[in-house]
Amino acid sequence: MRKQIAAANWKMNLTIEEAEQLMNEILEAKIFLEPQQQAVFAVPFPYLINIKNKIGEQPNFFVAAQNCASEKSGAYTGETSAQMINSININYVLIGHSERREYYNETNEILTKKINLALANNLNPIFCCGESLKIREGNSQNEFVQNQLKESLFHLAAGEINKIIIAYEPIWAIGTGLTASSLQAQEMHAHIRKVLVDKYGEEISKTISILYGGSVKAANALEIFSQPDVDGGLVGGASLNAQEFITIIKSLKKINCPIN
Ligand code: 13P
Repeated sequence: MRKQIAAANWKMNLTIEEAEQLMNEILEAKIFLEPQQQAVFAVPFPYLINIKNKIGEQPNFFVAAQNCASEKSGAYTGETSAQMINSININYVLIGHSERREYYNETNEILTKKINLALANNLNPIFCCGESLKIREGNSQNEFVQNQLKESLFHLAAGEINKIIIAYEPIWAIGTGLTASSLQAQEMHAHIRKVLVDKYGEEISKTISILYGGSVKAANALEIFSQPDVDGGLVGGASLNAQEFITIIKSLKKINCPIN
């Protein structure tokens, strides 16, 4: 069974006091997830160790970096390598978030290098893809997302692709309050799954988790997560509010219940 994940992306928000307070409140809710379910917190670099320590032994809770360098090591002032992230026992890294692609010119080619370094350093990449409003209006979102996957992931062998988590985040739904309808999310997730099946076959593709991101909140998480090809969410704004994110994590537990 593939993993179901509620992932928080704090982006460039919160002081350390605020971050610790938020994490305390979430941990106080004592959410015990099923074995195949996880809560992942993509936190700013300076807080990785603090939040990792705070989570401690809480089962199925993990910490992620929000980015890693496209080079292995050396004279790259200000960068953080995949090896460094692994050396502090962090398990996940976001790669190719649309904000990185847009504001820091991260191309599919650069992201390929990051994916390779993440895997070489035992990090599980959460690879983000998704189209702009213009592309959606031109109805070429399927080809666009397929190309993002092809150019950054399809060099991977079958034994590597199953370490990747895909996050579909339509840019027009990020931080805008506009959410893809659960039907739109399901349509794209089914398309992504089909693209994976064509390249890697049914067996491998059904083990790859595909998360939805874009204005997920407590009020819509369960409906979105209940779609057959949606395996959880990557959440920005709503992950900064303890009660909101607690409800979002708990939505994972309700997905498999016959009566929600
Ligand atoms: P919002 O949930 O704020 O729309 O952000 C989504 C996102 O970018 C998560 O990575």
